[in-house]
Amino acid sequence: MKKIFLNLLIVFSTTITVFGQTQGNWWKDTFIYQIYPRSFQDSNGDGIGDLKGITSRLDYLKSLGVETIWLSPIFKSPMDDMGYDISNYTMIDPIFGTMADFDEMLAGMKKRNIRLILDLVVNHTSDEHPWFKEARKSKDNPYHDYYIWKSGTKGVPPNNWFSLFGGSAWEWNEATQEYFLHFFSKKQVDLNWQNPKMRDEIYKAMTFWLNKGVSGYRMDVITFISKSPTFENIKFSSNRAEMLNGLNGVVFNGPHIHEYLKEMNDRVLSKYNLYTVGEGAGISLNNIDPFINPENHELQTFYTFDHMYLDKDMMTNKPTKLDLVKFKAALSAWGNKLDTRGLNTIYLGNHDQVRSLSRFGDDKVYRNESGKMLATLLFTQANIPFFLQGDELGMSNTTFKGKEELRDVFAINAYNQAIKRFPVDSVMKSISAITRDQSRTPFQWDNSANAGFSSGQPWLKVNSNYTTVNVKNEKTDPNSIFNFYKKVIKLRKGNPALIQGAFNDIAPEHPEVYAYTRELNSEKCLIILNLTSKNTIFSYKPGKLILSNYTDDKGEALRPYEAKVYKIQ
Ligand code: NOJ
Repeated sequence: MKKIFLNLLIVFSTTITVFGQTQGNWWKDTFIYQIYPRSFQDSNGDGIGDLKGITSRLDYLKSLGVETIWLSPIFKSPMDDMGYDISNYTMIDPIFGTMADFDEMLAGMKKRNIRLILDLVVNHTSDEHPWFKEARKSKDNPYHDYYIWKSGTKGVPPNNWFSLFGGSAWEWNEATQEYFLHFFSKKQVDLNWQNPKMRDEIYKAMTFWLNKGVSGYRMDVITFISKSPTFENIKFSSNRAEMLNGLNGVVFNGPHIHEYLKEMNDRVLSKYNLYTVGEGAGISLNNIDPFINPENHELQTFYTFDHMYLDKDMMTNKPTKLDLVKFKAALSAWGNKLDTRGLNTIYLGNHDQVRSLSRFGDDKVYRNESGKMLATLLFTQANIPFFLQGDELGMSNTTFKGKEELRDVFAINAYNQAIKRFPVDSVMKSISAITRDQSRTPFQWDNSANAGFSSGQPWLKVNSNYTTVNVKNEKTDPNSIFNFYKKVIKLRKGNPALIQGAFNDIAPEHPEVYAYTRELNSEKCLIILNLTSKNTIFSYKPGKLILSNYTDDKGEALRPYEAKVYKIQ
């Protein structure tokens, strides 16, 4: 009897999996709304956004048309890197609430048919994780091998690997007379993925959340989990392609990367109907195939960086002038490559970048036009659109006046270095242009104190434009960026060509206009975008205008940031 029951159970669970697979493409039609929990909505007046706050705003998200949320880390953390330094993978950090708050939030999402993607940060843990506290005590501690160590002489790091937040990637540990590796802050210690016991623990933690009903993972710096076992020096270059080449196989995409991802898929991911998106440092058109090819059973998509390094220096982040032809080419390359057999992702900003409106649009004179143009770009490309909370309002950069206003560990480290050589005004000007705090300012709900984000002192300053740029205003203004997002979200959903259609860039050399078609069976859309603040001319054969950010259509004469979508019969 027991055996029959077991067999039935196996058949039943296989059926569920098969059923899951038949529905397994749900993610191809969706788009992702990123919530940065510290900054979304505070419910208890401590100045920090929390889970109860998110739950209280689910109707807002539903009204926008949100179907899938990526939530930045909410796990127990000392918050050196705002939660990307985890000290307990299965506990909610008390500043965000409790497990009961999480369950309530997830139930609220389910009720509204909204899926939740969590952030998986498994290249490193916090140095305050119990594993590392043990690991650093002695070489024969059972947790020692959970991390990456190199013996050496104090003051002489083992090689030239550098932290992305400044300085060497190696930190001295007195008790064992060794260095430990940290590619980010020294409180974010790189895990040793060569250790199968450690990997088991990660898979257990992943399973814990999936069993609660979350729908996938965004995987933080996932290509870093396998590095060169021989620790050779990096070859530096000021040329981005050469530099990436030098990093490839050394600090990321090491020899075991596919083995680990396949194992993760086999042990965890394959058992659920999920969406996975890797953060694709070192992922390009040339090497993405094995990672996302369904036959390989690894991940589904990545988000990549080529289009993000055309207006800033890779090593210093110093802004440079954006070459629009190159920008278009970087986006179109993905559309061309992937439209026949899958999708990748497209984003113009997230919590690691400055605000997309200030960067690729005009947050002053043409705020409304350019905000809408960028939304049109995002939702008509041949990839899964991602955007950050507040983009739908046209939230923009602010000015950070002094170090005391900064919260981003990367910016604070950069400040500490720069201030040794330059005057404070010029340092703050450069830091303001690059700090990740720009995209993390509190969400602007209304024009009351602190933008309706919190009744207490917000953890990061509120952008002073909140009195006009806020949900309350924009909801009632039919001409607002918010209402345009609603339209463009609906438009994409109602036109399969905009989701699955073949992509064709029809004017790759045009210096100002991005023009392309999306075509599926007999349905074809033509998208015309003026990426600049200038009037320009572009001749084309129009069809039926189905979306525009101006009230009339002047044909080939395009106005600043004009965006039009036509249906071609
Ligand atoms: C990428 C995350 O998006 C970023 O915020 C974080 O600082 C690093 N990974 C390290 O976890």
